[in-house]
Amino acid sequence: TFVVTESCIKCKYTDCVDVCPVDCFHEGPNFLVIDPDECIDCTLCEPECPVEAIYSEDELPEGQEEFIQINADLSQTWPVITDVKDAPEDADEWANKENKLDYLER
Ligand code: SF4
Ligand code: F3S
Repeated sequence: TFVVTESCIKCKYTDCVDVCPVDCFHEGPNFLVIDPDECIDCTLCEPECPVEAIYSEDELPEGQEEFIQINADLSQTWPVITDVKDAPEDADEWANKENKLDYLER
């Protein structure tokens, strides 16, 4: 399965949702997650993200392992998103920030 990682927090560009053939992205206040039970590993979303937030669970960068569980948990309650929408106004300011997990709104 593919996993949305920390870079997406407060960026949420949503380019990824446009290409997913099985509509498995779910939207929270300032982050998106992938439902691991629905993802078919098509790989299409990975290159779409401007901040490279999406990885195969087998190739997660060091320190991002906890996002496997975060995606699994939050995709159970957050609604599906299939249409691209405007990113937050300050998304670009957050694009290069690290350690954003404290800002994740659930
Ligand atoms: Fe959707 Fe494919 Fe990305 Fe999985 S890898 S979330 S199926 S676009
Ligand atoms: Fe997030 Fe990147 Fe999609 S910032 S919403 S994973 S395009």
